[in-house]
Amino acid sequence: MTKPLTMFWFIPTQGDGTYIGSSEGHRPADPLYLEQVAIAVDRLGFEGVLLPTGKGCEESWIVATALATATERLKFLVALRPGVTSPAFAARQAAALDRISRGRLLLNVVVGGDAAELAGDGVFLDHDARYAQADEFLTVWRKLLSGERVDFEGEHLKAIGAELAFPPVQRPHPPLWFGGSSDAAIEIAADHTEVYLTWGEPVDQVAEKIARVRAAAAKRGKTLRFGLRLHLIVRETAAEAWAAADRLISRVSDEAIAATQAMAAKSDSVGQKRMTALHGGKRENLEIAPNLWAGLGLVRKGAGTALVGDPATVAERLREYQAVGIDTIIASGYPHLEEAFKVAELLFPNLGLGREPSGAHATIGGEFGVKAATTS
Ligand SMILES: Cc1cc2nc3c(=O)[nH]c(=O)nc-3n(C[C@H](O)[C@H](O)[C@H](O)COP(=O)(O)O)c2cc1C
Repeated sequence: MTKPLTMFWFIPTQGDGTYIGSSEGHRPADPLYLEQVAIAVDRLGFEGVLLPTGKGCEESWIVATALATATERLKFLVALRPGVTSPAFAARQAAALDRISRGRLLLNVVVGGDAAELAGDGVFLDHDARYAQADEFLTVWRKLLSGERVDFEGEHLKAIGAELAFPPVQRPHPPLWFGGSSDAAIEIAADHTEVYLTWGEPVDQVAEKIARVRAAAAKRGKTLRFGLRLHLIVRETAAEAWAAADRLISRVSDEAIAATQAMAAKSDSVGQKRMTALHGGKRENLEIAPNLWAGLGLVRKGAGTALVGDPATVAERLREYQAVGIDTIIASGYPHLEEAFKVAELLFPNLGLGREPSGAHATIGGEFGVKAATTS
């Protein structure tokens, strides 16, 4: 039998809400709300959560540290931009968070695709130079976490006598995951990382990308794992799910779409261009493949597609991705708290996932339960 998919959720550090692309029903990224989401998904049986990075997000490392102390099993896939900090400092942060979380840290290496935003962080490199810098960064970072003393002089980075005093729990270092679709990205992924992530493109496009990454890894005698980042809109019936999708973008104005698409067009990210091409900024024909809906991409950069449908159908679509090599799904839904419950309650049973209810929950029928009906 095929191994069940591994399911991650997303911490909405940019804020959350009922209607995307609108201030109506908006929820700020309040620290206690983020904690509620993390505690909920920890208990529901998600394997981990992704925390993004960028100027529009609450800072991923600080948030992950707070959430690690509030949860028991959940893993934290924390976005790391190699350009914005030194490898030695990033190594100390990673080792500390790995210890604080008792070995639950994973890193998502993302160089970023918005030159204007990166300039604000002091990064003035072009697309491929950012990856060349990331290569040097990861070379130093990995050596330090593995316990080596490092003297390094590259084109972009220099470190003399770098050392890490307190080692991470996970050896040689917390696992490196990676997001980036360009040729330069794929080379770095193959050289340094374990799990390659792609946004939710149609299955054939994901398969083509996986084939390229596999070939690059095979040249180095390596095998990578693959993850898919997308949204899920699961309801008991297909009609309810599609109504929820329509409702989610029902407050979106043409101006909001134009503003997001203008911003996306300035990005030099190949991955972003591939996502934008799926809908072209148009409201029509948003079901770009069976059950794959690109509505979110109209007003959301990055992960802009959702699988929409009843639980059995969405599970079947996810298995199609699994068949081409995906083993991990990083999902989300708006609002992230309620949708985490929907995914766990409706979809997990179809995927062989989720935690067994504890004895207390299984036996207490309660006011509205079967047991109550037979005993009172
Ligand atoms: C699953 C996933 C998550 C990502 N998360 C972030 C993020 O948190 N912050 C960010 O700046 N970029 C993020 N990116 C985009 C990467 O930074 C990517 O390197 C950038 O878009 C340039 O990519 P390219 O190689 O496709 O041109 C993410 C990409 C993927 C696939």
